[in-house]
Amino acid sequence: MLEIAPSILSADFTRLGEEIRALEAGGATILHVDVMDGRFVPNITIGLPVVKSIRKMTDLTIDCHLMIVEPGRYAVEFVEAGANMVSVHVEADPHLQRTLISIQEAGGKAGIAINPATPLVSLEEALPFADFILLMSVNPGFGGQKFIYTATDKLRRLRQTIIERGLKTRIEIDGGIDAANIGEIVEAGAEIIVSGTGIFGGGNPTEGVKKLIDAGTNWT
Ligand code: DX5
Ligand code: ZN
Repeated sequence: MLEIAPSILSADFTRLGEEIRALEAGGATILHVDVMDGRFVPNITIGLPVVKSIRKMTDLTIDCHLMIVEPGRYAVEFVEAGANMVSVHVEADPHLQRTLISIQEAGGKAGIAINPATPLVSLEEALPFADFILLMSVNPGFGGQKFIYTATDKLRRLRQTIIERGLKTRIEIDGGIDAANIGEIVEAGAEIIVSGTGIFGGGNPTEGVKKLIDAGTNWT
């Protein structure tokens, strides 16, 4: 099932509650929360207190994308703060299965995020432990970057691997996605589509979500 996951990184933080209501009105089902530490990526964003506050005001699925070093130290705290999905980067965690299992034991869905330059083979051993893969189509750190075109073929190959191995892993994709390219991405096998600029850039997040749902559904 296609789900749109707006990235609140592109929201107006002074009006975050209203922005979330606008996303709900458009039909978003997942809120993508980009957590950056200034070490794994060259930017610092938001953390646990914001997740706790959001949890109090919405029933949407909260999806925390941890772009932090040593994500195993914090992953469970994000579930306890209210996240339903938590992803950690394969590049940042030498103990992936342990971290994924800890997220699941805390009651969350566990994801592995993978950068554009990291080959899919690095997922080989941990794949059966993940509920979802977050395939990056930009190098993480900032909203508003251009979709890296090689991500589409990588997405196809990942989908094929999941089918061949008989897994139920969902694929989420993140970075540079808008109404113009969502069709080819859904066709290539992504189920959860993250978008920041593509939704907030036009100034009307409700319409932004609707446009993406429409373009992602009627691409044939
Ligand atoms: C990038 C973040 C993304 C980003 C997406 O580091 O992980 O979630 O906010 O924003 P757009 O859609 O603007 O590329
Ligand atoms: Zn993200």
